[in-house]
Amino acid sequence: MTPPKIPPPEIADLLREDRVFPPPEAFRAKAVPNDPDIYEQADRDPEGFWASFARELEWSRPWDRVLEWKPPHARWFVGGRLNACVNCVDRHVRTARRNKAALIWEGEPGDRRTLTYFDLYRQVSAFANVLRQLGIRKGDRVAIYLPLIPELAIAMLACARIGAVHNVVFGGFSAESLRDRINDAQARLLVTADGGYRRGGVVPLKRVADEALASTPSIERVVVVRRDSGSIPIHMQAGRDQWYHEVMQDAPLTCEPEEMDAEDMLYVLYTSGTTGKPKGIVHTTGGYLVGTYATTKWVFDLKEDDVYWCTADIGWVTGHSYLVYGPLANGATVVMYEGAPDWPQKDRFWDIVERHGVTIFYTAPTAVRAFMRWGPEHPKKHDLSSLRLIGSVGEPINPEAWVWYYRHIGGERCPVVDTWWQTETGMIMITPLPGITTLKPGSATRTFPGIKAEVLTQAGDRVGVGGGLLALTRPWPAMLRGIYGDPDRYVKQYWNTWGSEVYVTGDGAKRDQDGYFWLLGRVDDVINVAGHRIGTMEIESALVDHPLVAEAAVVGRHHEIKGQAIAAFVMLKEGSQPGRLIVDELKDHVARKIGALARPEDVIVAGDLPKTRSGKIMRRLLRDIAEGKALGDTTTLADPAVVAKLKEKYEEEYGAN
Ligand code: WT7
Repeated sequence: MTPPKIPPPEIADLLREDRVFPPPEAFRAKAVPNDPDIYEQADRDPEGFWASFARELEWSRPWDRVLEWKPPHARWFVGGRLNACVNCVDRHVRTARRNKAALIWEGEPGDRRTLTYFDLYRQVSAFANVLRQLGIRKGDRVAIYLPLIPELAIAMLACARIGAVHNVVFGGFSAESLRDRINDAQARLLVTADGGYRRGGVVPLKRVADEALASTPSIERVVVVRRDSGSIPIHMQAGRDQWYHEVMQDAPLTCEPEEMDAEDMLYVLYTSGTTGKPKGIVHTTGGYLVGTYATTKWVFDLKEDDVYWCTADIGWVTGHSYLVYGPLANGATVVMYEGAPDWPQKDRFWDIVERHGVTIFYTAPTAVRAFMRWGPEHPKKHDLSSLRLIGSVGEPINPEAWVWYYRHIGGERCPVVDTWWQTETGMIMITPLPGITTLKPGSATRTFPGIKAEVLTQAGDRVGVGGGLLALTRPWPAMLRGIYGDPDRYVKQYWNTWGSEVYVTGDGAKRDQDGYFWLLGRVDDVINVAGHRIGTMEIESALVDHPLVAEAAVVGRHHEIKGQAIAAFVMLKEGSQPGRLIVDELKDHVARKIGALARPEDVIVAGDLPKTRSGKIMRRLLRDIAEGKALGDTTTLADPAVVAKLKEKYEEEYGAN
């Protein structure tokens, strides 16, 4: 493991931000909530606080106890029974929301579909019947590998309706990544599509899936959505593969939902950690729904007539919580866009905001930095006056990007909510409440009411003002319940550093004089590239899988747009004869093994790697090299000359980053 780069206590003096933005009066007056006392109330009685949100949902049996906490295992809304799909769909169909738009979807080529809550109800019910008819029962796992099309949300909700556990795999992942996730979850059915659009091209999802399906013995059936209308011929395996539109044809439009226990599994979503193997993060039904419902409502100040757009892909947790479950549980109108922000032009997002009258917009800092680079002329072409609130998620947002976003997208009128959370937390944990919190650019401000976080030293001492490690010190409803198939790892990974009641986030943070949190990025072997989480070990395993590679060390380095980029140092096998294009070949190899998001930005073929006398690679030095920093202490190295040579070579090839 790389020694953690723990932020030092003095960091509070280095990082100073004096600009403050109190909630605009017009916003504050109408915001729910806008009473600062709610923090104290929630803190006094967190269980009562969460129960008050839970009561706004529909339960077929009320819970007996809000929380049972046997550290580090929590059960929320014990004894309660409900169905997530009923709460996201049926509940609204019985009200005036019946004909309200639930999803406004836009494909990258410009095709559009709007589904009302009633449409969604019928399609979800029909697909739930299809799943049952194909033999899927409560507790079975269903893998979903789709582009960002309505069928993705439909398939998830259909699983939830019949109690099947969905396992969504981001459409940018490779065949091997898909295969590993399917096998780990032992999924019985796969929902995929012929293709999806990205920057004008077609991603051939079914072909990639076929490659994975060659070694996924648990999969019995495959349902294929026709998205690309035949531009890439695909193979349908008789007895296994069926077209979505065909199986949907005769499916009944009503489907009795399965009554679920609050603690029954809702989904598994894989995320990268510090080992080579991604972890299946387990979320359950009741607490997750309450947590995502509550945070969507309050963080985004959601009102009945809002048009809410989260730009994330549903392949990541942001899409699960804030494109599907949170907003639909609230009965919101959700905008969904399939493609790239710069296709066909760099104003695509602003065109969508204007055409659909988007009022709430939630995106990632990497996107904001790209907009900055492209220039304010693109948003200027459009009327963005419908926007009233804008949000950020996925990585630290630097103050310059925050201010640009506030000015050029938010028109200096919209509060910016910088929301910190993780796949594991399931819900937003650190965030402003837009009608209450005074904003500071670059700070996610404070914990959501009822949530407790601390900055700790490595020894576990509380840091009042200064830098350290971010920890969560009280259970919360949407917390992960485990790692699929690996109960020990759940305990060891998250609850084993400062006792079994303190959750380790893996993030560095500092607290300022006002108690505000400033997130400083991961301190472990996880890299955050453009808001996408990837483990250095995964990339290293992909590299050493190449026939010419003997050893590899991967680090994250600073990147102006993506936040971080992947830098790989590779030692080839003795006697190997690399071609001139070895660097490109290695980059392609990683992209093929894991997915394009893991493609290293820099690959340095090294004669030797800096090692301690006991043979451990000193990644800290590699990080300094990749970031163009002065080298730290090299006295413990077996051969200090190695690192100097490497630094020279890096700078020759990539300049100083
Ligand atoms: C990691 C979790 C949460 C949904 C998307 C990512 C980083 C996330 C912020 C933020 C600073 C952030 C952290 C965290 N992160 N949001 N607002 N400010 N950093 O989910 O893939 O599980 O990644 O993303 O480092 O640990 P994820």
